[in-house]
Amino acid sequence: MKAGEQAERTRARCQTLARFSEDCEGTRRTFLSPPMRGCYQEITEWLRPLGVFARLDAAGNLRGLYPGETGTASRLLIGSHVDTVPNAGAFDGILGVALAVALLEGLEGRRLPFAIEVVGFSEEEGVRFGIPFIGSRALVGRLDDDLLNHKDSNGISVRAAIEDFGINVNEISQARVGEDVLGYLEFHIEQGPVLENLGLPLGIVDTIAGQSRMEFIFAGHANHAGTTPMHLRCDALAGAAEWILAVERTARAQPGLVATVGAIDARPGVTNAIAGEVRVSLDVRHGADGVRHMTVRELIRQAEEIANFRELRVEYKTLLDQRAVAMDSSFADQIAVAMTETGCEPHRMVSGAGHDAMILAEKVPAAMIFLRTPGGVSHHPSETVLVGDIERAIECGLRLLSQLAESQQVLKRTCRA
Ligand code: HGY
Ligand code: MN
Ligand code: MN
Repeated sequence: MKAGEQAERTRARCQTLARFSEDCEGTRRTFLSPPMRGCYQEITEWLRPLGVFARLDAAGNLRGLYPGETGTASRLLIGSHVDTVPNAGAFDGILGVALAVALLEGLEGRRLPFAIEVVGFSEEEGVRFGIPFIGSRALVGRLDDDLLNHKDSNGISVRAAIEDFGINVNEISQARVGEDVLGYLEFHIEQGPVLENLGLPLGIVDTIAGQSRMEFIFAGHANHAGTTPMHLRCDALAGAAEWILAVERTARAQPGLVATVGAIDARPGVTNAIAGEVRVSLDVRHGADGVRHMTVRELIRQAEEIANFRELRVEYKTLLDQRAVAMDSSFADQIAVAMTETGCEPHRMVSGAGHDAMILAEKVPAAMIFLRTPGGVSHHPSETVLVGDIERAIECGLRLLSQLAESQQVLKRTCRA
């Protein structure tokens, strides 16, 4: 198959999987929801002609091993996540799995001095349980009882969701990566405007920004909207609104920091009642953990100050405190060589989005290759990727595999000497 056709097919595969959704309109695939089963079936069919028999591990991750030369003792993981946010685009996550398959197809039966394991993570976004990276945590041994017992808004625990999907949750420890793993490579759309503004098709991730995810609850007194004078109100929604603007103001004042209130839930949530309780989400990100933590402390202080002034109560809890993670520099250097030979400038950049690579990096050398995101839009149906950039990503990936194979051969010869 010509490179352009393969790139076209890879893109089309992502668009096919976008139709597997919990919603009639738009793409939503959360942890081990029924549409995930259809996705896994499709990916399994892509892998079958390659002699790769995919299986699900105890965290619901799809795993498919493409063997290396006989006697190979090591493996390279290549993958990304299969789950999505609500109203998602077609490429966030799944493009990384489709590109892993495209690389295996591009090998055309060639065996390398290491095996390649394709991984489709079951949960990276954190939509169903509010906590991200459930799938990749299992590979680094961090899917603990605390997280397994965490419940979604319907009172279903992670453990129950795994069992409901027909998986033996007691085998979680078998999902862990072993000493045989050479590294983890993730292709992903940039999800931002940088590569497009530079006119570059590909980029290399240096560091993945750290992120804090929290929930704040403002509590006042629900009351009648028509009979309660303004000066006698303890309006939780007005207090939350004042704080949300303070979040935006504080973030704008801190270079390189982003802070987002993406979700709000006001109760009782009707036109003619003053809100007695409001739950809001908070997402804070920065390349430097100290700046992120300082900002979180300031936003907590502001929430308490606003609550005191308005005679409201405020509580908060941290759902995620994920440190910034540097990608493996020698792996990135190898990618830079392959990217240059592909005719692309090896631009190094920070990722504002979180990725499974930041979890895998706890145990194995991890690296990421970004593809340009036209319009810089993601987590939205207009998210897209160019076929030409997919073609370059495949070529860069195949060159990288040849480089790694060459260095493995050298390593083998050195070890034998
Ligand atoms: O939210 C993120 O950083 C990514 O899309 N999971
Ligand atoms: Mn995402
Ligand atoms: Mn993603």
